[in-house]
Amino acid sequence: MSPPLRGSSVAAVLLSSIVTVVAASGAGCAGGTPPATPVGLRAVAASELRTPADFLGIADRDERSRALFLEATRVMFHPRCRNCHPDGDRPAQGDEGRVHDPPVARGPSDHGAPGLECTSCHQDRNVELARVPGAPKWALAPREMAWVNRTPHALCEQIKDPARNGNKDLAHIVDHSAHDELVAWGWSPGHGRVPAPGTQQQFGALMAAWVESGAECPREETTR
Ligand code: HEC
Ligand code: HEC
Repeated sequence: MSPPLRGSSVAAVLLSSIVTVVAASGAGCAGGTPPATPVGLRAVAASELRTPADFLGIADRDERSRALFLEATRVMFHPRCRNCHPDGDRPAQGDEGRVHDPPVARGPSDHGAPGLECTSCHQDRNVELARVPGAPKWALAPREMAWVNRTPHALCEQIKDPARNGNKDLAHIVDHSAHDELVAWGWSPGHGRVPAPGTQQQFGALMAAWVESGAECPREETTR
C-alpha cells in the first residue's frame, strides 16, 4: 500500500471515531447540552461555545441580548456548574447529577457539616489518583443561587438580583464569570470529566456582551 493511501485510511478511521464521539455526546449523556441551533446562528459541537461575534447578525439589541444569555446557559446548566448549584442541600456528582457519594450536607455556611467540611476531601486542586476534584475554597453555592430546575428566564432574573446573587452588580457577575477559580474548575475538572463548553474566557466574553447589550432575559417560555 502506498503511503498516501495509508494516510487517508488513517484519516478515515480518525474521522469516523470523531463522528462517533460527537454522536454519543449528542445523545445527551456525555455532559453537554446537545446544542440546539437557533435560527440564524451557526451550528456548533456540544463542546464548542459561540462567540459574541456570532450574534452580531441579530439586529434587535434586546433579542441579541436574550440570545447571548441563552448561549451562556449552555455553560451554566452544564453538569460541572449545576452539580455545585443544586436546588437543595447536597452537591451532585457526574453528568447525570446523582446524589454526592459519600453523603455530605451543605452545613451552616455552605462549606459542609462541622467536622466534615468540603475541604476535608476537596483540596485546592484535582487529586487525580483519588478522583477527588478540587479548586481553592471549594464550597456549595448558597441556597439562593440554586440553578437546577430553573428555566433560562428564571436563572437570568435570579443572576441579576442582588438579593439572590451574593449582592453583586452586573460588572461583578461578569468578573466572577471570567475569573473565579471555582468557575475555572469547570474547564479543567480532572479525571476524565467532561468540561463545560468553550473556554472560561469565551464564557466571560459572552456574559460581558450580554451585559453590554442591556442584560435582557430570555422570554419566560424559552427553553434550551
Ligand atoms: C465547587 C462548587 C462550585 C462550582 C463547581 C461552581 N460554582 Fe459557581 N458558585 C459557587 C459558590 C460557593 C458561589 C458563591 C460565591 C460568591 O458569592 O462569591 C458561586 C457563585 C456563582 C456565581 C455568582 C452568583 C450567582 O449564582 O448568580 C456565578 C455567576 C457562578 N457561580 C458561576 C458558575 C459557573 C459558570 C460554573 C461552572 C463553569 C460554576 N459557577 C461552578 C460554587 C461553585
Ligand atoms: C468525604 C469526602 C468528601 C466530602 C466531605 C465532600 N466531597 Fe465532594 N466529592 C468527593 C469525591 C470522592 C468526589 C468524586 C466522585 C467521583 O467523581 O467519583 C466528589 C465530587 C464532588 C462533586 C462532583 C463534581 C462533578 O461534576 O462530578 C461536587 C460538585 C462536589 N463533590 C461538591 C462537594 C461539596 C460542595 C462538598 C461540601 C458541602 C463536598 N463535595 C464534600 C468527596 C467528598
